[in-house]
Amino acid sequence: GSVRQQVSRLLRESLHVSLQPVAELDPSVVDVEPLVAICNPRFGDYQCNNAMGIWSKIRGKPSSYRNPNSIGQAIVANLPASTLIESATVAGPGFVNLVLSTSYIAQRLDQMLIQGIGSWAPVLPIQRALVDFSSPNIAKEMHVGHLRSTIIGDSLARMLEYCHVEVLRRNHVGDWGTQFGMLIEYLFEEFPNWEEIGEQAIGDLQAFYKAAKQKFDADPAFKEKAQQAVVRLQGGEQRYHVAWESICDISRREFDLVYKRLNVTLEEKGESFYNPYIPAVLEKLSEKGLIEESDGAKVIRIEGVEYPLIVVKRDGGYNYASTDLAACWYRLNVERAEWLVYVTDIGQAQHFDMWFKAVKRAGWLPVNDNDYPKAKHVGFGLVLGADGKRFRTRSSEVVRLIELLDEAKSRSMQGLVERGREGEWTAEELEHAAEALGYGAIKYADLKNNRLTNYIFNFDQMLDVRGNTAVYLLYAHARIRSIIRRSGKNIEELKQIGTITLDHENERQLGLHLVQFAEIVEDALAEFYPNILCEYLYNLSEVFTKFYSNCTVIGSEQETSRLLICEATSTVMRECFKLLGITPLERL
Ligand code: ARG
Repeated sequence: GSVRQQVSRLLRESLHVSLQPVAELDPSVVDVEPLVAICNPRFGDYQCNNAMGIWSKIRGKPSSYRNPNSIGQAIVANLPASTLIESATVAGPGFVNLVLSTSYIAQRLDQMLIQGIGSWAPVLPIQRALVDFSSPNIAKEMHVGHLRSTIIGDSLARMLEYCHVEVLRRNHVGDWGTQFGMLIEYLFEEFPNWEEIGEQAIGDLQAFYKAAKQKFDADPAFKEKAQQAVVRLQGGEQRYHVAWESICDISRREFDLVYKRLNVTLEEKGESFYNPYIPAVLEKLSEKGLIEESDGAKVIRIEGVEYPLIVVKRDGGYNYASTDLAACWYRLNVERAEWLVYVTDIGQAQHFDMWFKAVKRAGWLPVNDNDYPKAKHVGFGLVLGADGKRFRTRSSEVVRLIELLDEAKSRSMQGLVERGREGEWTAEELEHAAEALGYGAIKYADLKNNRLTNYIFNFDQMLDVRGNTAVYLLYAHARIRSIIRRSGKNIEELKQIGTITLDHENERQLGLHLVQFAEIVEDALAEFYPNILCEYLYNLSEVFTKFYSNCTVIGSEQETSRLLICEATSTVMRECFKLLGITPLERL
């Protein structure tokens, strides 16, 4: 567990003992959870903030505690002995300030260097989670919103995986919409020989979609046929099914190019997958009395929301919501996921809120939000262009994600060439670095923002070596690697024989920051905010800089310990990069 989990454990024991004498005054104090926060560094490392809350429950009643401060004193007095805490003091109205023992911090670092950073993983109360992310719509554009979902979802999945949670990385592609009727009918009419020429008939799917849509809007007879085509497709007619499959295949290959560049793995179970489950799932909800008729449609009314959730359309067809309900049932009961995480733009918040409420009413999810299984909508804001409007490229109204990624890479390559790396590195090394920098820059520029806010997509900014960017951080990491190389020491050997001491104030500060990595992952996962991890990583690079400018490493008396501190820093940085989906480089 994390350091904070260890500290909490001690405090829980202390609180238990300290509150024994007042348990009968207010039974709710018995299982009070420790409130542990990072402290103002002038006073300590952690702070326990329970005393005031407890006081408010027992004040005015006869007890041995006279004020919150006396409760704080008891918490300190009853702390079990441990190697963890150096000192505990009470401030003002009962705040307990805790100073970690420096040798404990050092030991934790030593141990991590030998056992690997996996040994620091926070303990989560679940075994399997499902992250529904990326999820573009087939034949429609995969736009920057889907890029955000891909980047954020992948990072969250990586953090859960770090915590030893099995993650089902689900691509809920839109492969079952009414657009398929139009596409298939267009294919049949314009390319009667489509079965021979195959996918060449479709060519560029986005252009194909555009042409089909034009005809759909202009030609009522075509529109009529397109609508019938949906029915025939969904009825399982062979020719329609074959055409549908080949359209999906083309889309899939395009999406895969993006995933491959970004090194993101996903398992596709598209909307069509859940279609056969919908009738039975709606039946279950109906048995619970959730479904009503309204205007010929079937709906679920949600308290506090003006419009009901439509689950069967007036024409008898299913929709986005019915599919999500069936998927939810499948994920909980067949896949047995304990945490369902949905990563989409905030525009869909209402949709998720409504059906989450519906399935809680049905008893599929517990009413208490602290209990598992849980469902969470992870919403995000828009990507904006320099003009502050929705992001578009010059060439077309849609942004081709591949082009975007390629541009980031080629700009990075140019930067490397300007730095004279062309002569020093092999073509593969250059290529590898340009990709790490370019794709890393795009990911970090997205993840470093609070996901709920809109952000402006700006190549110059995200590729700046001096700002809060992936490029800056990758350089910082490579510099640490180079310090270790320049020492000429065998670091693997040092890990086995050497130990870390944190005598200098900047050494201790860096050590403390490093051991707090695990609880940062915990915090980032609590409400799914990857920017918390980005901020930690950026601060780490600053704390390291302070250490490095005040503590000589190579040739100093403390060389072994300080090299190990460098090694620990680069290990934690690498793990941060990994959790953000960024590839670290040994040299830059
Ligand atoms: N295909 C949807 C879109 O592009 C996102 C799907 C999200 N996942 C879900 N289970 N509803 O907006």
